Amino acid sequence: MNDQSPSDNLNRLPTGEQPTDHATRDRELFDRIAGEYCRKDLLPASRAARRHRLLQTLQAAPFSQNAAVLEVGCGAGFAAQYLQGHIGDYCGVDYSTNLIEYAREFNAGPGIQFVAQNIQEFQPGRSFDLIFAIGLLHHLDNLDATLAALVQLLKPGGWLVANEPQPANPVISFARMIRKRIDANYSSDQRELSSAELQAACSRAGLTDIRLRPQGLFSTPFAEVPLSPQWLTTPCAKLACWTDGCLEHLPAWLLNRLTWNLIIAGQKPESFID
Ligand SMILES: C[S@@+](CC[C@H](N)C(=O)[O-])C[C@H]1O[C@@H](n2cnc3c(N)ncnc32)[C@H](O)[C@@H]1O
Repeated sequence: MNDQSPSDNLNRLPTGEQPTDHATRDRELFDRIAGEYCRKDLLPASRAARRHRLLQTLQAAPFSQNAAVLEVGCGAGFAAQYLQGHIGDYCGVDYSTNLIEYAREFNAGPGIQFVAQNIQEFQPGRSFDLIFAIGLLHHLDNLDATLAALVQLLKPGGWLVANEPQPANPVISFARMIRKRIDANYSSDQRELSSAELQAACSRAGLTDIRLRPQGLFSTPFAEVPLSPQWLTTPCAKLACWTDGCLEHLPAWLLNRLTWNLIIAGQKPESFID
């Protein structure tokens, strides 16, 4: 399933970089900013936008109310709260121990589990109906290996869904580039993956029925940066979510050029041979 071509650069590291450097730097960044990161789900404006992004993302894949769900790169685990009543059980994995501590503080509950571990080492001894990741894949230096590991954790017929920043809008890409340079809390290792790169990586991992959907035009900035004052930003964020919900009906070719993010979903075939 993992037939990489030599020209594939998705698993390559910059020259001279050791395999652990990238992950260690990234984990240390998220450990350092964990408290600040949590605020995004605690303040009403960013919370509304983040909940909206999650629910819009998961519309890309069918799942039942009994679904066993794994979130990879779960951060402080607020998805567990947003999905309450929509799924069976939830397991969130993140290698930032500080974020997982917050997850346990804010989002513990029946049928909810949080694990502080690199997803590459995660061996739960069970499989899942739905695996999702919001903003994870572009942080990885080993995309193919991680996707292959996730597909192993899916039940046959199960779905993998990801929401990723995308490079189709040059203005947005430029804004991200500037933020990388001026915001010490924004990982400079991350890179946007194009729809073609994401699609190819999912196919190499063995996923089928791959679906791509643009996501987030006005609501994304609210999801990413907690803005004040909340009395003003909260109604603005809600209006942005509502507008994005309406825009969803525009043709994908047009939206794709406008949105901040891309949703990608694929199914593990029933006939998949591990
Ligand atoms: C951009 S944050 C997104 C967090 C959360 N999904 C959200 O939307 O707020 C990426 C998260 O992925 C985690 N992460 C990155 N690579 C990982 C890996 N290999 N294993 C586990 N967690 C990882 C980071 O610690 C970080 O919390």
